[in-house]
Parts: sequence; C-alpha cells; structure tokens
Amino acid sequence: MDRETVLVAIDAGSTKVATVVGEVTPMGDVNVIGYGIAPLAGMKKGMVANIEQTVASISSSIEKAERLSGYKIGSAFVNLGGSHISSQNSRGVVAVSGSRREVSREDVARAMEAARAVQVPANRQVVHVVARGYIVDGQDGIKDPVGMSAVRLEVETHIVAGATTSIQNLTKCVTNSGVQIDEVVVSSLAAAEATLTDTEKDLGVVIADIGGGTTDIAVFTDGAVSHTAVLPVGGINVTNDVAIGLRTSLNLAEEIKVKNGTANVAEVQPEELLNVSMLGDAGGQTIQRRRLAEIIEARMRELYDMIRAEIERSGHAGPLPAGIVLTGGGAKLAGVTELARDVLEMPVRVAGPEGVGGLMDQLASPAFSTSLGLLLWGAHHPASDLSGYAAASEGDAGVGRLMGWLRGLFPG
Ligand SMILES: Nc1ncnc2c1ncn2[C@@H]1O[C@H](COP(=O)(O)OP(=O)(O)OP(=O)(O)O)[C@@H](O)[C@H]1O
Ligand SMILES: [Mg+2]
Repeated sequence: MDRETVLVAIDAGSTKVATVVGEVTPMGDVNVIGYGIAPLAGMKKGMVANIEQTVASISSSIEKAERLSGYKIGSAFVNLGGSHISSQNSRGVVAVSGSRREVSREDVARAMEAARAVQVPANRQVVHVVARGYIVDGQDGIKDPVGMSAVRLEVETHIVAGATTSIQNLTKCVTNSGVQIDEVVVSSLAAAEATLTDTEKDLGVVIADIGGGTTDIAVFTDGAVSHTAVLPVGGINVTNDVAIGLRTSLNLAEEIKVKNGTANVAEVQPEELLNVSMLGDAGGQTIQRRRLAEIIEARMRELYDMIRAEIERSGHAGPLPAGIVLTGGGAKLAGVTELARDVLEMPVRVAGPEGVGGLMDQLASPAFSTSLGLLLWGAHHPASDLSGYAAASEGDAGVGRLMGWLRGLFPG
C-alpha cells in the first residue's frame, strides 16, 4: 500500500449496528474518519431474525457514517456471530515438491488444502482457515516455512465453520443495504484484533466479547487462535433476569442494571436500598440493592462457568497464563472483573478497542471492540485478490471461502 486506503466495518449485533470508516496509512496505522451507530432490533442472539428491520438499521448506520466521513461506502468487512459457529483444529501434511526440496508457496498452499479437507456437513461452510504454525521435517513452531530445506511439510490450522443459511441471511442484509462484502469475520477474532497483545497471545489468553445476546470467545495459545465458540448468553439475559426478579419493565430493568447493578454481591452493603417502580405499581417500592446484585451475579456466574467449560474444551489444562480479557458492552457492568477472578481463578482485565486512532468519540468503549477490530482485521489481512467479492456476496460461499483460505496461508 503506497497511499491511504479506506476500509469499512459493519458490526451488526443483537442491540446495535455500528458502521465505521477508517483510513489505513502507508505505515499500516488505522484512523477512523467516520462512523454511524443505529439501534438494531432485527438480530437475535447474533443472528438475523428479521431481514427488513436489520436492513433498515444497517442502512441508517451506513448513511450516518457516509455523512460524517464524506466517503461513499461500496464494500465492508462484516462480523458473523451466533452459536451455530463451531471450530476445530486440523493438520495438513504434504511432501515438499521440486528437486531442490525447498518449501515453496505452492507447498504451503497444498498443505493448507490438505488441512481444510475436513468433513463439513452439507448445511455448513468454512468461514476461516487460520494457519497456527508449521512443522518442517518434525521441527515445530515454524511461523513461515517458505525457503526452508525440507522433505515433509505439516501445517497446524484452526478452522471455523458456520451454518450456511445464517451466513446467507447476514450477507443478504448487507447487500440489500447497498454494500458489497469484503470478508465475513467471526466476531471473536475481530474483537481479538482490537484488544489482545502479542505477548498475551503467546502466553495463552482467552477473549470474551460479552454482547447483548451472545458472548463470543476465542482462546489463543502459542501466538495463534486454538478455539473459537459463541455462547448464546449476554447482557440481555441479565436484564431479563432483573425484570423478572424485580417485576419491572425491560426498559426499567436495563436502566437499573446499568446504574445500580453489579456482578459482585460482596461489594454491596446489606443496608443499601433502591427505589424501583414495579409493574402495575405506580408508587414504586424499596428493595435491597443486594437483591439486585444477587440476581445479576447468578447469571454472570453461569456465564463464566460456560466460559470455563469452553477453555477446557479447547484442550488447555489449567488457567491460561495471560488470563481472560473481557470486552463488549456487557463488560461495562460493575463487578465483572472481581467475579471473573473468583470463578475463573486467572488474571482478568477489561479492554476497549486499542490500536486505532482518529475520530473515536463514542467508539472508545468495550461495546465497539468488535467494530474497530474488523477494521484492524482488514488492515492486517490484506486480500491478495479482491475481485471475487461480488460473487461471494451473491451467495457463492466458495469465493468467500477461498479468500479466507488465501488470507490464512500465513499467520499473523
Ligand atoms: N454500563 C453498562 N453496564 C452494564 N451493562 C451494560 C453497560 N453498557 C452496556 N451494557 C450492556 O451491554 C449489552 C450490549 O453490548 P454490545 O453493544 O457489545 O452488544 P451487541 O454487539 O449489540 O450484541 P452481540 O454482540 O451479542 O450480538 C447490553 O445488554 C447492555 O445492557
Ligand atoms: Mg457485538
């Protein structure tokens, strides 16, 4: 890149959609030049539930972002969520070709092809094939094997797949909003781009993007992703519990949660009182704040237990050395850090989007880590060929898959 390139991210979530326009400088720095945020009611648990509502919200956020940036949006990186997302690790092995027995790009491509030949049911499609590292004649931990003398080349990959119909519905909503798709990126990998340090990824870390309807998880070990999953629980579940427990409307429950809620019962004194308006009771009623905290803590504890189960499923024994990084709007809840430390017994930090400059105003919040991470993903994973995107967005999964595959050839 020898001049500034403009990239766009569309982060459609269970509560809001954010469209962000960013400039990538020749040095690789990303600066936001405009954004648009709109409430979104058409997505449930990270998946499209109402096409019309989703298109209207996405279009409105695109319009705002275009007005602020003065840039006409043609294509965008788009996040994919929902608990249909699954992951597995796969190894590909090939004999190094050519008389010189030197690993070439073609050998790497063949090894990746061998690794990606995993069984994926007919109603699912591969979204990412990420190279975790290479093994050259039994020597592991190689990040770039091209040019090395060898007989046998192995690649360790992380493969993410999702339900074809869910991906098609998302694609439809974006293209119906008049924008082509550069690439579909699972939310957790986008969030990781904006929050995790290289050291954390090397040591071993888990990112949890606690959104409205879902919690997106990715485990990194030895510098690369080793497990991804989406849990169908988020801040909306906490709000629902508060509404049921205190017999209030959902709007009021949300307000009470944000203003007075905490996931850490221990920090609340028994004598702290709150006045809440119950349903069908105009006068309101006084409750102990501790009662509110108990409701919230129970749900967050359950979420952390589910995260712990995912870490175990990733094959990692014991706590991750760099711990857990919490992001997403749900990570703004008071007491999340203390409770996570208690349940997961590892280091905890709450992170917002880092590594992006420019017009950040409202975006400097954990709720926008995935949105800005999508921009960083675009800047860090330049496509070697963008020509196939139109076809990909028309529902041809193969082209999008090929792009993901090309990008996955080299880690980093
Ligand atoms: N200050 C706060 N305290 C507690 N919770 C908060 C706060 N701010 C936002 N939230 C919660 O964050 C959630 C929304 O987070 P976010 O914007 O990351 O979700 P989303 O991206 O729309 O959804 P998803 O990623 O699940 O599809 C809501 O449930 C909201 O209650
Ligand atoms: Mg989100």
